[in-house]
Amino acid sequence: MKIVFYGAGNMANAIFKGIINSELIPPENIYLTNRSNQQMLEEYHRELGVHYSYDDAALLKDADYVFLGTKPHDFDQLAERIRDHIDDKNKFISIMAGLPISYLREKLNPNNPIARIMPNTNAQVGHSVTGVSFSRNFGPRSKDEVLSLINAFGSAIEVKEDHLHQVTAITGSGPAFLYHVFEKYVNAGTKLGLEKSEVEESIRELIIGTGKMIERSDLSLEQLRKNITSKGGTTQAGLNKLSDYDIEGIFEDCLNAAVNRSVELSMQDDND
Ligand SMILES: NC(=O)c1ccc[n+]([C@@H]2O[C@H](COP(=O)([O-])OP(=O)(O)OC[C@H]3O[C@@H](n4cnc5c(N)ncnc54)[C@H](OP(=O)(O)O)[C@@H]3O)[C@@H](O)[C@H]2O)c1
Repeated sequence: MKIVFYGAGNMANAIFKGIINSELIPPENIYLTNRSNQQMLEEYHRELGVHYSYDDAALLKDADYVFLGTKPHDFDQLAERIRDHIDDKNKFISIMAGLPISYLREKLNPNNPIARIMPNTNAQVGHSVTGVSFSRNFGPRSKDEVLSLINAFGSAIEVKEDHLHQVTAITGSGPAFLYHVFEKYVNAGTKLGLEKSEVEESIRELIIGTGKMIERSDLSLEQLRKNITSKGGTTQAGLNKLSDYDIEGIFEDCLNAAVNRSVELSMQDDND
């Protein structure tokens, strides 16, 4: 299988490194290109053994999957660059937020299958939760191949294209929302009189340990919480206080704001 990446930036490199680390595709089957930063491509070639090129006809010839990994506002230029070299065999996988499949087909070629994926930054550690939707002409075998590629850097959820806005909010932006909550937790902990560095280090470890507990347990989040809450104890006292606030409502507002922004961006030309 030949895979080409148009764009080798932050998100694309998390994806191709994940695919290489999982040993799903050997590095010599992966081809990179970008706009102009050849030095970066040279470094990936040396570090990982992938190929790079600026020859679009050669890149696209017989390529099975072509990742579109530019910023959305650079896509029109990219489409202009590759349109005349598209091979019937090419199936596109767009990681660009906001650009609908109908728009990508119009700019590329209406006959080539297109998948849109919404990964998150945890792809860098092989734990992206990635939403995916497919154009109608994507065959079942190709769908399975795309899902295997996604599983190489995390896990996949297939959704209707309209629901990618919700995926963008919940898991695309999700890491930033959780970092924000953790930052506030560190600040509050510091106010109890400990050094900020001590609190931050403890809370990093707390988050990692809690993540591992979730990973290893079949229990629901609710049950995990109940298991460590003794009646009348300290945890119960803290949780009672938390229930004085509408935390769910706060997150509803946060997610609605992110969904609305995703919809707005998809309707603009410059949807970075
Ligand atoms: N970062 C995230 O957490 C995240 C999450 C989900 C989705 N995304 C999506 O991922 C996409 C990329 O984001 P990023 O943060 O990875 O951006 P980035 O680091 O700025 O990388 C953009 C890449 O696109 C290349 N490029 C620009 N124009 C090109 C052209 N005409 N032909 C070929 N390559 C071209 C750039 O090449 P040069 O370096 O040579 O200019 C660069 O390699 C965005 O569309 C974003 O919506 C990002």
